[in-house]
Amino acid sequence: MADARQAAWQYAQKNRERFLDELIAFASIPSISTDPNHRPDMQKAAEWAADHLRNLGIKNVQILPTKGHPVVYGEHLEAGSPAPTVLIYGHYDVQPPDPLDLWHSQPFQPTRRGDNLYGRGVSDMKGQVLAGLDAIEAITRTGQLSVNVKFIFEGEEEIGSPSLGPFLASHKDLLASDFALNLDSGIITPDIPAITYALRGLAYFELRLSGPASDLHSGIFGGVVHNPAQVLCELIAGMHDEQGRVTLPGFYDKVRPLDEAERAEMARLPVGEAFYLEKTGAPALFGEAGYSLVERTGARPTLEVNGLLSGFTGEGSKTVLPAKAMAKISMRLVPDQDADEVHQQLLKYLESHAPTTVRWEVIKLAGGPASITDRNTPGVIALSQAMETVWGKKPVFKREGGSIPVVAQMDEILGVNSILAGFGLPDDNLHAPNEKLHLPTWYRGIETIIHFFYNLSN
Ligand code: BES
Ligand code: MN
Repeated sequence: MADARQAAWQYAQKNRERFLDELIAFASIPSISTDPNHRPDMQKAAEWAADHLRNLGIKNVQILPTKGHPVVYGEHLEAGSPAPTVLIYGHYDVQPPDPLDLWHSQPFQPTRRGDNLYGRGVSDMKGQVLAGLDAIEAITRTGQLSVNVKFIFEGEEEIGSPSLGPFLASHKDLLASDFALNLDSGIITPDIPAITYALRGLAYFELRLSGPASDLHSGIFGGVVHNPAQVLCELIAGMHDEQGRVTLPGFYDKVRPLDEAERAEMARLPVGEAFYLEKTGAPALFGEAGYSLVERTGARPTLEVNGLLSGFTGEGSKTVLPAKAMAKISMRLVPDQDADEVHQQLLKYLESHAPTTVRWEVIKLAGGPASITDRNTPGVIALSQAMETVWGKKPVFKREGGSIPVVAQMDEILGVNSILAGFGLPDDNLHAPNEKLHLPTWYRGIETIIHFFYNLSN
């Protein structure tokens, strides 16, 4: 057994450069799920992933349609029936690359500089997908995989996985597994391995305000017509109080309180004020009073303005009183908040705070609950031991502030629990310009997944 691990790892080392070339090819496809102009690229990325699975000898590879972007499926069931079946999850879609002018190299021409590969999707998450596939390749080319694996790669994660729930519900037998290995996560710093055991949920809205029938001259009408941009700012400003708490009525009612043991454990994570100041470049930090920084990002709900649109934003000046104002607003949810209830809370807030001088409308764009995964399963133990082998130290357990809707969906619909095992880093610039993948950590990730599969079969 020890020899087989060794052989797999040597294979992975020998093929490092080719693995990187393949990642560059995959990440060159601009598979931006939110942009209808990129539909053909979505298909191309799905085909790239399907072809790659076929080249690895994965069976029954299919591109399965959904209401939205297709799902890529494949299976390797050679280990037979007493062996466990692991459902390996990934997404082949990426976030839009804008603002383009802030990139130092083209987002869809992945470029290596020093220890990092820069490009949209290299960390979130085409690199993580390929880390899993590279590990499987290394094992199957040098020995045998002694567990069964199924693959599910979706194309709508970055837009909230709207079609995946119905897809899972109609493919329960195909996807039946003992647990899922979800590669869409990360660790804290390159030298500390970490296992994520909780994710926040999300509720995402567009708030549209309109006042006058069309844009107005601000000199002729300013003073009699309430400016929708001003109203929007006032409404948004009222969504937090002076303690940094969200003011939507009932927002905290269902929030599960943290127990002291978990708070003590979180307090030991090496992420204090200096970490966040250094990683973000913000001049000072902000947040909910009474909670540590780690608690605020992982275990407490938040509300963010993701974007604002109104009036004249071009160069120079233009005296206009805009007819409309729009904000994209999202809330990160924790157990046991519910996205539909938060929707109602937002409507209630607006009903009592919006003035009669504007009309308003809320459009719900995405929503899904938070999730907490079991920490004492054979899979988590196999992963923890794999990390200890590779890093020479035990992993820390952390809550993630980001969201991965499929984790709750698999729980509810398939009864399948997830293990979060990705190797991204907080400073990978996810969803931002100059997204990067730290290559030494990526190679450690491949090595970890090799050990994970060997540990599982022991
Ligand atoms: N990979 C991220 C989630 C994540 C972020 C995990 C940071 C670990 C560390 C995922 O692709 C993502 O960004 N999800 C979206 C989901 C949303 C659109 C429903 C998110 O969290 O904003
Ligand atoms: Mn992702």
